[in-house]
Amino acid sequence: MHFIRRPSWALKESAVTPEHLALNRRGFLRGAAALSATAIPGAAAAQGNFLGKLFGQADVSQYLDFPPFEPKPALNPEYADAGREVTAERINATYNNFYEFGTSKTIYAEAQVLPTDGWTVTIDGMVEEAKTIAFEDLLKAVQIEERVVRHRCVEGWSMVAPWIGFPITELNKLVKPLSGAKYLRFESFDKPEVASGQRSRTSPWPYTEGVTIEEAQNELSFLVVGAYGKVLHKQFGAPIRLHLPWKYGFKSIKSIERITFTDERPVSYWEELQAREYGFWANVNPEVAHPRWSQATERVIGEVEQRIPTVIYNGYGEQVASLYAGLEAKYADRLWR
Ligand code: MTE
Repeated sequence: MHFIRRPSWALKESAVTPEHLALNRRGFLRGAAALSATAIPGAAAAQGNFLGKLFGQADVSQYLDFPPFEPKPALNPEYADAGREVTAERINATYNNFYEFGTSKTIYAEAQVLPTDGWTVTIDGMVEEAKTIAFEDLLKAVQIEERVVRHRCVEGWSMVAPWIGFPITELNKLVKPLSGAKYLRFESFDKPEVASGQRSRTSPWPYTEGVTIEEAQNELSFLVVGAYGKVLHKQFGAPIRLHLPWKYGFKSIKSIERITFTDERPVSYWEELQAREYGFWANVNPEVAHPRWSQATERVIGEVEQRIPTVIYNGYGEQVASLYAGLEAKYADRLWR
C-alpha cells in the first residue's frame, strides 16, 4: 500500500482539520477578517488565497483564458438550471482539487503545464471494438451538450458548474461493450515530469476511479470536455473528465486517458489510500457522516458564503435512487462513503 502523502481530507484529524470544520468551529462563515484569524496551516493557506481571489486582490484572468468551445453546444433543457446560482468562473476555476499538481486548492497556475495537445483516450477491456482515439476525433464522434449541475465535494463545499460534454452512453456506439462488462474503470495520466504532486511515488498514481455499468449508463453520468462556454480549463481536468453530480466530487476523475470495461470492481485511488473514508459508491447523503466530520450541510462557494443543508443524492434522487434500490441492507453505510 502507498500511504504517506495525503491531502487534508485524507489526513488524521490530529494532523489537519478539514477546512469546513475549521471554519465551523470558529463560527465564521462570513467575512475575510475572521478568516485571517484561522490557525490551521493547510486550510488557512487555501482559504486565504481563495478569499484574495474573491475580493479581487489577484488577477487570475490568464488562468481563465481558454478558447470558446466550438461549435457552441445546445443547453440540455433537463439540466438548464441546478436550482442554485451558477458559481462564477473565476471562483470555480481558482478553487480546485487536483492532487497531481499539489495539495492546495490553488493549483490553477501549476496545472497549466499539463500538456493536452495530442491527447488520446484508450477505451478497452470487455468491448467488441477496443480503440485508442485522438481526443479531437472523440469529440466528432459524440453528441455534445451543455448542462448546469451541482458539484458537492466530500470536504463539505459545493459549487454549480456549467459543463459541456456528453453522456457516457455515447461511448457504447464507439466500442460496443460486451454483455459481461459490469464496471467502468477510469484512469488519469501519470506524468511526474510535469505534475509535481506525482513526483512522490508514495501515492498510488495514476488517479483512478470506477462506477458500475448501471451507474455509467445513467443519464447523469457525464464526460466533460468544456466549461463556461470554453474548452475545458486545465485546472478542471482538461481535456476530458468525468462528472457524477450525485456522488462526492472525488469520484469525478480529471484528465482521463483510459476507460476500461471490466467485470472486476475497480479499486480507486482514494479507496486504496483510505477505504474506510472514501469507498466505491460515495453517494451524497447528509445523514451518513464521514468518519471525521458531518455531511449534513455544505458551504456553497461563491461571492457570498452560504451554508445550506445537503440533500440526498445531491438533489438527483429522481434520476439515480432506483440504481440503489435494495442495496442499502447489503452495503450498509458503504453506499454513502
Ligand atoms: N481527478 C484527478 N485526476 N486528480 C484529483 O486530485 N480530485 C477529485 C476530483 N477529480 C482529483 C480528480 C476531487 S477530490 C474533487 S472534489 C474534484 O475532482 C474537484 O473538481 P473541481 O476542481 O472541478 O472542483
